[in-house]
Amino acid sequence: MEKSNILVTGGAGFIGSHLVDALIEKGHTVRILDSIVEQVHGNKVPEHLNSKAEFIRADVCDSGAVAKALDGIDVVYHEAAEVGVGQSMYEIVRYVRANDLGTAVLLEEMIKQPKQFKKLVVASSMSIYGEGAYVCGGCSETVNPFLRSNEQLAAHEWNFKCEKCGGELKSTGTTEEKPLFPTSVYAVTKQDQEQFCLSVGRAYNIPTVAFRYFNVYGTRQALSNPYTGVCAIFSSRLLNDQPPTIFEDGEQSRDFVHVSDIVQANLLALEKDGGDGQMMNIGTGRPTSVKQIAQLLAKGLGKEIEPEIVGKYREGDIRHCVADISKAKALLGYEPKVSLESGLAELLNWVKNQDADDRVESATAELAAHSLVK
Ligand code: UD1
Repeated sequence: MEKSNILVTGGAGFIGSHLVDALIEKGHTVRILDSIVEQVHGNKVPEHLNSKAEFIRADVCDSGAVAKALDGIDVVYHEAAEVGVGQSMYEIVRYVRANDLGTAVLLEEMIKQPKQFKKLVVASSMSIYGEGAYVCGGCSETVNPFLRSNEQLAAHEWNFKCEKCGGELKSTGTTEEKPLFPTSVYAVTKQDQEQFCLSVGRAYNIPTVAFRYFNVYGTRQALSNPYTGVCAIFSSRLLNDQPPTIFEDGEQSRDFVHVSDIVQANLLALEKDGGDGQMMNIGTGRPTSVKQIAQLLAKGLGKEIEPEIVGKYREGDIRHCVADISKAKALLGYEPKVSLESGLAELLNWVKNQDADDRVESATAELAAHSLVK
């Protein structure tokens, strides 16, 4: 395979750093642009930063630094983003700046470069769908519901009912055709990032792929950042001998995908052109409930700690969303390889040797102060 000069924005982060390792392993030359966000890294360059990559510590909104970072580059992976969904609802300027403006700066600097880029891959998110797709158990209609109403949630009626026949709606695979209902500022910025990249890519003949990542887990996910995903939050709680706090009833489900499968998709996008100009889901196609995650993690850590189901709920939370991955399979030959059991075992092996500052309670209090946890 042809070797490339590759820029990974956010290459110090959870997904970016795993991607950097894989690209270097394949013999590519890699440059990282990352500002080392304090909330994620605690203001120190992480140990996992690959020493074979060139590292530029700068903000993706800094056009001068971005221009320098793009010099001689022919492939760009855009992974830099602020990632706290709840936090995006009150630190709106910060999220719009990093995610929207950052992508705008990157694209504007890319089109100024004399060289034609071979590929642009952008990290989008399942959050842009809002609720996943459902099918009615009674009348078999396919339904794409909006969020559950406040009245429904206040009454702790967590599941959706069919508006036509009153039957219970069952979660089914969400395809890329599902209408988008982003329900947080974070999600809106992810939709923007995806569409900015695809539209600019199309106009300037930059083969561009947008991946809608589902719920990614794995080593290096910032355990002390209370705004990241549930696997990291629960691991951090358990490691500190605290019970994970479960919102709703714990039966809500997600598609948990191991970070190495995310990396696999990113490598396929580089090697193949089938996904160019397209957006596609990257998940596993398998749903797992939040309660199951808490139990698997506690068991794996050998802790007899039952999760606490507190009967609260988070503003904007969806009930179920699982990926239909047929598009990525057909266009790129993507096939998830890591089972949840082996992925969580690997995560826990790593977690056991980490110091995780448990900041979940203060973050939850912050969300509650903004009426985002009820
Ligand atoms: C959101 C984003 C997703 C992003 C992810 C991590 C949406 C629809 N999706 O996913 O793009 O990658 O955040 O930033 O916005 N939960 C608990 N207790 C906790 C924490 C979470 O019960 O302490 C529950 C939540 O209520 C939710 C589930 O776990 O039902 C998953 O939450 P989380 O990991 O934050 O991810 P999403 O909200 O699915």
